[in-house]
Amino acid sequence: MKPLFLSVFFLSIAFLGCQDQQQSTDLNGNGTIEVYEDTSRSLSNRAADILPRLSLEQKVHLLVGRGMNMPGSESPEIKEKVPGAAGSTYPLDSLGIPSLTLADGPAGLRIQPHRKGDSTNTYYATAFPIASMTASSWDTSLVKRVGKAMGNEVKEYGVDILLAPAQNIHRNPLGGRNFEYYSEDPLLAGEMSAAMVNGVESTGVGTSIKHFAANNQETNRMLINTIAGERALREIYLRGFKRSVQQAQPWTVMSAYNQINGTPASQNTDLLTTILREDWGFNGLVMTDWFAGQDPVAQMRAGNDLLMPGTPDQYSKILEAVKSGGLDESVIDRNVQRVLETILKSPTLQGYDYRDNPDLEAHAEVARQAAADGMVLLENRQNTLPVSDQSGTIAAFGNTSYDFISGGTGSGDVNEAYTVSLVKGLENAGYTLDASLQEKYEQYLKEEKADRPEPESFFDQPEPIPELELSKSEIEVQVANSDIAFITIGRNSGEFADRKIEDDFYLTDTEQQLIEDVSSAYHNTGKKVVVILNIGNVIETASWRDKVDGVLLAWQGGQEAGNAVADVISGRVNPSGKLPTTFTVEYEDVPSSKNFPGKELSDKEVTGPGGIPLGTPSEVVYEEGIYVGYRYFNTFDVQPAYAFGYGLSYTSFSYDDLSLSNNEFQDEITASVTVTNTGDVAGKEVVQLYLTAPEGSLDKPALELKGFSKTKKLQPGESQALELVLKPSDLASYDPDKSAWVADAGTYQVKIGASSADIKQTAEFNVAEPLTVEQTSNALTPNREITPLFK
Ligand code: BGC
Repeated sequence: MKPLFLSVFFLSIAFLGCQDQQQSTDLNGNGTIEVYEDTSRSLSNRAADILPRLSLEQKVHLLVGRGMNMPGSESPEIKEKVPGAAGSTYPLDSLGIPSLTLADGPAGLRIQPHRKGDSTNTYYATAFPIASMTASSWDTSLVKRVGKAMGNEVKEYGVDILLAPAQNIHRNPLGGRNFEYYSEDPLLAGEMSAAMVNGVESTGVGTSIKHFAANNQETNRMLINTIAGERALREIYLRGFKRSVQQAQPWTVMSAYNQINGTPASQNTDLLTTILREDWGFNGLVMTDWFAGQDPVAQMRAGNDLLMPGTPDQYSKILEAVKSGGLDESVIDRNVQRVLETILKSPTLQGYDYRDNPDLEAHAEVARQAAADGMVLLENRQNTLPVSDQSGTIAAFGNTSYDFISGGTGSGDVNEAYTVSLVKGLENAGYTLDASLQEKYEQYLKEEKADRPEPESFFDQPEPIPELELSKSEIEVQVANSDIAFITIGRNSGEFADRKIEDDFYLTDTEQQLIEDVSSAYHNTGKKVVVILNIGNVIETASWRDKVDGVLLAWQGGQEAGNAVADVISGRVNPSGKLPTTFTVEYEDVPSSKNFPGKELSDKEVTGPGGIPLGTPSEVVYEEGIYVGYRYFNTFDVQPAYAFGYGLSYTSFSYDDLSLSNNEFQDEITASVTVTNTGDVAGKEVVQLYLTAPEGSLDKPALELKGFSKTKKLQPGESQALELVLKPSDLASYDPDKSAWVADAGTYQVKIGASSADIKQTAEFNVAEPLTVEQTSNALTPNREITPLFK
């Protein structure tokens, strides 16, 4: 076989300036073009032409990655093309099959900014806002733009596949990686993920939607057995993945660490073959999460094509199994075929001439817009915001005002060149900050940081710096110096650990005291107080929100976060974000609070390859079933602090003239509604369509999100008509007894809302006969009875 590398080398000479294009070339010069070289052939034909040319050993090598350099402990054995990338596939140099490079992650490309022996260049990537924040924009075109910018960095830094987007469900606010995920709702998560995949892949690199599936906690994440009913799995935990697979066909899917109903996701044929490929039509590659699963042979059989980052032990076990007849070679061939198809479309194989020089300035602008559009205004009494008068002085309280958190930790982190803090953003926008307060905080933070040891490894997550304690008299001094107070409350979390209830979901005593003291001091002199939430996921707000005048959920807004907050504070951007996740009053109100993070089944800690701690065998039972997030709050009349879909604007909107294209459901129904800006400033509104199904054989949530649309920027008085389409699948619930998506006959209510708790217009249509919308396989059945918590 002729080396593919060589062919590409010649091609790139022949086509300088248009490196993206491929063309079949007779590299032998013998007058014939091999099938695998012929780019007019399908990827599948080309890969199938390579397969018989490979030895068994070569095939198995392609199925197991090349291993991994742990951040901070690089081994000279594993030569990295892109330092800081998470892994790479095995090259077969003699055949010209290159190694693909894979790198995280959801908020931007994670690679090392500095390289050994290279003191002149830097390799920073843009930190975009976290996924929960981009989802808060409810704007798929914006997310696609973010994806496109991210994909460009992936390609320009020589990476082939971005290990993103992540789209697990926000089952519980303590989930340590929720910031990497979009929403508690699978429709919103699926739409966001599809937009991100389309954006990234439009640049010619691949994505890996992850972590498939039901990976909703970090505690014992590699050993946890998630026990869930088929209905909850299909309707909540798989549904968003189905949407992004069917709308965007990502190059790859990453299987999760956890077990589902007793079988690790990466060894789960039901999940990876029956559902993903047969039910949904996925035709790409499945890779494991890093070091996931225990049995490489079972992984191969399940349809987990590529084991990442790959260990010598996995290679030997697969090879041995084929040689001894324990694993059919046809299984290997099927998986190798998928690996080859992925390699064939990669920029590396195509010889893309990357320059390590993406347009970081242009991407910073995209990051800033995405952050500004993802901010959610939670409170704004007496129009405290925007602060249009820039002549006054702002006092910024709270450590994180000065040390803004751009994103979470672990593999979801990005090595960005800078993070614009709140105070820097305000200064850039022309505001004056209270200098004496700034000095006090900066001095404190400097001293605290000097006392802290540098984290020893990637796995070490430093404890947050305790909030600076200020006495009442110290605060009084600032009141005299300033005209308004901002208090930033910051939270961070990430891979390897879930959050805590005390001093994390709930505020610390010092934070509560700060809010109390600052508010009473400023209010005594008629001055206002705004809280900025620089957080990755839900915290408690109900106990303190009435003490302040404004609350802005600024999330973790990436490297431009401070500038984006200033855009909203100044009114340059009118906030239009809405919550992708419910904010509860108490932690106990969360429907999964009784079952999170499950129970340990042994007291033995298990370790994996290289002594990596895997945790303790444990299980979690999803007894809340489909009642996750607003599906629970709305059905059982539990008052949240802020409802799913909620968010304020500097203007107001009216909703009128809801009409349906038909009163009887045939193949689809279109709902039309007119939204008018009834306030004084221009703004955008997120319009949500919820559906209430009639009573039927299955219990139903009070309402479910079935569509959404965001208006353009409407000028005061301007209207826009929006259309939202309902398909049969939007009407259906999953009936495990029938292994089918079914819709009952009866009256359905279409509810157009500004949030799940603020329905503006309602209309009805009828379904004459029950519909079986989709027959599925019978898969992922739990092997025990799950007692539902709610019904
Ligand atoms: C994470 C994945 C990530 C991978 C590679 C794993 O620990 O769970 O999300 O893509 O590491 O860094």
